[in-house]
Amino acid sequence: MKKVRKAVFPVAGLGTRFLPATKAIPKEMLTVVDRPIIQYVVEEAREAGIEHFIFVTGRNKAAIEDHFDVQYELYDTLAKRGKEEVLSKLRSQQPEAGEISFTRQQEPLGLGHAVWCARELVGDEPFALLLPDMIMRAQKSCMKGMVELYEQTGENVIAVEECDPAETGKYGIVEAGDTTAGGGFEIVGMVEKPKPADAPSNLFINGRYILQPEIFDILATQERGAGNEIQLTDAMFKMRDTQKLHGYRYKGETYDCGTPEGFIEANIAFALERPDLADKVREMLKARLT
Ligand code: G1P
Repeated sequence: MKKVRKAVFPVAGLGTRFLPATKAIPKEMLTVVDRPIIQYVVEEAREAGIEHFIFVTGRNKAAIEDHFDVQYELYDTLAKRGKEEVLSKLRSQQPEAGEISFTRQQEPLGLGHAVWCARELVGDEPFALLLPDMIMRAQKSCMKGMVELYEQTGENVIAVEECDPAETGKYGIVEAGDTTAGGGFEIVGMVEKPKPADAPSNLFINGRYILQPEIFDILATQERGAGNEIQLTDAMFKMRDTQKLHGYRYKGETYDCGTPEGFIEANIAFALERPDLADKVREMLKARLT
């Protein structure tokens, strides 16, 4: 079984729900407490053992590349001022030379197309896919748990959670079959953004995947689906002809930072776990709510 070494981050989206904040900066660079959203997602991948980080970017996304680059002037100034602590924190979060790659999705044709744009960088090996709208907080990170399940099952692993049955139209929804090794389950049905009446369950795809490279061949000819976009969900389901899709039930918190309310909740949740901020934020919230 090949190890999952590479992760793909599709970051070409326009962020229209966050205008005007995202007029000049990428939505992935909006900050949750003091780190941009994208950094939480990259850290989750690194913690799961990922060694190479592939970004599918677009126009106006250069700030993401700069964020993960060495900022020589800043590092030099911090060193001269004796700010060793913050400097070593920045350095420890810095990908090594050659650990990070960027490619562009030239047209907004959907998530399936964005993933396909990474095919040459991924090559012939399994890869993790992390959608940066979703950030997570858990004892064991979502991707780490998925890699463990992958090591027991091979094939493909897709993380799911339960949603309000009225909200199935926001997500990809799966139908669960038999339990498989390692506490996962076989996915026997999958549909992108169904109306509640058509949804096979309330188990939604939460934006974390481990996929085999055969997905790229399917994506190459995948027709447009829901929202007139090339849907990853449709392509993944076709893989079932030759290999299994394993569902991984993620236990932990997820914040959909693609929506203002999810983004605000993420800020509160992550601030409340910071020793230097927790008490002040708790007092602030209490004062406001009474
Ligand atoms: C995408 C996927 C969907 C998944 C969702 C999670 O949709 O297509 O299956 O449930 O991410 O965030 P999007 O949010 O890009 O419309």
